[in-house]
Amino acid sequence: MKNSSPDSRISKNSTRHQSIGEILEWKSNRSGLEGKSEHGTFRITVYQDGVIRVQVSRYDEFETNPYAVIAAPEPTPFELTEAGNSLCLSTSLIQLEIDLTSFCLSFFDHHGKLLNQDDSLGISWIGTEVTAYKQVQKNEKFIGLGEKTGNLNRFGKAYTNWNTDYFAYGVGDDPLYMSIPFYLGTHDQGSYGIFFDNTHKTVFNFGASTNRFVYFSAEDGDMDYYFFHQPTVAEIISSYTWLTGRMQMPPKWALGFQQCRYSYYPESEVYAVAQGFRDKKMPADVIYLDIHHMEGYKVFTFDGEKFPDPKAMIARLKEKGFKVVVIMDPGIKTQKGYVPYEEGLENGLFVNYPDGKTYEAQVWPGWCAFPDFTKPETRSWWAEKMAFYTEAGVDGFWTDMNEPASWGQFTPNLIEFDYEGEGASHRKARNIYGMQMARSAQEGSAFQNPGKRPFVLTRSGFAGIQRYAAAWTGDNVASEEHMMAGIRLVNSLGLSGVSFAGYDVGGFAGEASKSLFARWMSIGAFAPFYRAHSMINSNDAEPWAFGEEVEEISRNYMKLRYRLLPTIYSKFYSSTNTGLPISASLAVDYPQDDMIYQSAFQNEYLFCDAFLVAPVESYKEITKVYLPQGEWYYLFSDQKHQGNQVIYQDSPLNYLPVYVKAGQVFAMQSDIEHTGATHDGILRLHVYRGKTGAEFVFYEDAGEGLEYLQEEYFQRSIHYKPESESLILEKSTGKRSSQYQKLRIYFHGFELKTVDVNGKSHAVQHADDAFLEKLTEFDPLPEHHHPYFEIKNLPYLELPHTGEEWVITHLF
Ligand code: GLC
Repeated sequence: MKNSSPDSRISKNSTRHQSIGEILEWKSNRSGLEGKSEHGTFRITVYQDGVIRVQVSRYDEFETNPYAVIAAPEPTPFELTEAGNSLCLSTSLIQLEIDLTSFCLSFFDHHGKLLNQDDSLGISWIGTEVTAYKQVQKNEKFIGLGEKTGNLNRFGKAYTNWNTDYFAYGVGDDPLYMSIPFYLGTHDQGSYGIFFDNTHKTVFNFGASTNRFVYFSAEDGDMDYYFFHQPTVAEIISSYTWLTGRMQMPPKWALGFQQCRYSYYPESEVYAVAQGFRDKKMPADVIYLDIHHMEGYKVFTFDGEKFPDPKAMIARLKEKGFKVVVIMDPGIKTQKGYVPYEEGLENGLFVNYPDGKTYEAQVWPGWCAFPDFTKPETRSWWAEKMAFYTEAGVDGFWTDMNEPASWGQFTPNLIEFDYEGEGASHRKARNIYGMQMARSAQEGSAFQNPGKRPFVLTRSGFAGIQRYAAAWTGDNVASEEHMMAGIRLVNSLGLSGVSFAGYDVGGFAGEASKSLFARWMSIGAFAPFYRAHSMINSNDAEPWAFGEEVEEISRNYMKLRYRLLPTIYSKFYSSTNTGLPISASLAVDYPQDDMIYQSAFQNEYLFCDAFLVAPVESYKEITKVYLPQGEWYYLFSDQKHQGNQVIYQDSPLNYLPVYVKAGQVFAMQSDIEHTGATHDGILRLHVYRGKTGAEFVFYEDAGEGLEYLQEEYFQRSIHYKPESESLILEKSTGKRSSQYQKLRIYFHGFELKTVDVNGKSHAVQHADDAFLEKLTEFDPLPEHHHPYFEIKNLPYLELPHTGEEWVITHLF
């Protein structure tokens, strides 16, 4: 039996540190090596040139860890040499040196530059707790670790991974809802990533209360980590998501604006809110049904009084272009006669005490039993139950309270989970529970509607959660500091493989001021997941509830979001292939630039590669912005700034500081009410003159369904090449023709009269253009008027949007 008896070589005095000890024997195998030391068993496995797994156990066998990792080792050539007291395993990217006397590991790049090295304490135990101690390299920054508060550079702080329901958390509090034990270290010699695949409570200490080392430890289980190295941070994230998976392409509507509230009811209220968006000409795609849609908060029920005919209601909302997402909480009310409870009991689908009695705790419905989502039978049962919602026409699912949460906030550790048949206590299963519930929801959605793309939003999760769901940052607070902290949380999720993430725009707890709400709506337009939400017993918080000025500012940014959808959708698709963030901390592209870690600038990020967003509190009318190397255009006026400097930027409420990176290309469309509405058929490309060019891969498909997996799409690479003063639209790939019949190309920063298109001269036209509309001035005094930016006389070219190659030259 696995892990049955503790190795007798382990010291009985479990309160003391016990190292792994000297290596006694080792042998190479097809993908690495394995062996025994005085106090443990180890294995080193090459997964890819840039991915090496390190396993250490106190037992003769290793744990399987069946959830986060989906990739297997690929046949990869490596060399193994022994010299003196050390072994060296090298791939084309990593050289790993293993000290045979202590099992201390040193990772170098292929030029021999030191990336990461164990402290002499190496890997060791205190009782069941296992830890890897690492030296800190010169100028090293630590980034990532998923949904963690604090600074972009995590140096000096320690974090715990223990999924926690934390209403109105403070912006420095830890732990929150989701655990992703993956971080990156970046320093003068290069960058690397470490993923600690252990679902127990883990701690990552990046130098809190010690100046000797950083470490990561787990309460129990194996030391089982993956070391990643690649030339860039972006490629390390790609490697990590190769290992733990990438998001599936979401339906297009999930990229639109989403409105939530705890809770909209009865159905007349839901109609009124939906109609509000259409009357106010604010684009929106989704409305949520929070817990009041249920009868007594019982999942798989509708409250018959508040929602007498859900199917008819949802059909009516669909006619208006709205999708409906419902909340699903795991707790099943322990009520006799309530079918899900009876079925769960009968079929052994709930989490139990070790003596077989059902574990019960209180959540919204009162006393509840908890489905064991780590059990395949429970997941299939849940998937079947979801017919209740899909038959009513529900399109998306929101898995909440899946840490799992219960009143009292303290779950006894002895309760038992199936853990894919292996059996595990709460200590090992808690952190994976939420992810397995999200998985059930995704599998359920796919099972009920096989041809449709699932949309699941989750609060809790673990490494790999990106495969199943989008994530949001839980119960934030309506405050300026929360707005800023939420951006860092989302960017940190992006560094940790979760590209589809967002926060409650406007703040869940408390009341947003007018200016705060307006600013949050502006920033949210540049978040991968764009949803407003607020809690029970709070003021109305729809974008029109804060007066005319906020309404106009909100509308402006919502409309901008929808006009940018061709770019956002394209980037989502590329993220399904690369795992790269859509909202990318500047640490992805500029990891060695110390300025980006400064507190004044650490919230800045690149959205969809092209847009540098410099979030600023709503009360600030002027702010400092750091522009990294390169050249940057202020989005709204085309004013050009040199990079590598701090600039002062006016930041009136109606203009969020956003800059376009010189050399970039992005795509826009006309205003639309919702993602299913028809546009004017013109795809607008915006090209920004720069010294270095870029490639933009434009992608479109049906927006729904799975046919895109059979190449039912229209995709093309668009290259701007400053060295040849040209813009090349490659021949399209995929089986579809574009939904846009015309192409209009805007040239920013160019002075053009004619260009050559496929060798023939073409006159260029000129027009004024603006990314946001002018606000209505309610105040008669001109000095109180809002600034307004327009780009004058912008050159543009119109072409038919066919899939053949277009070569546009003479861009000077
Ligand atoms: C939790 C969720 C919140 C939701 C509420 C009621 O607090 O985080 O978003 O509105 O429960 O379901």
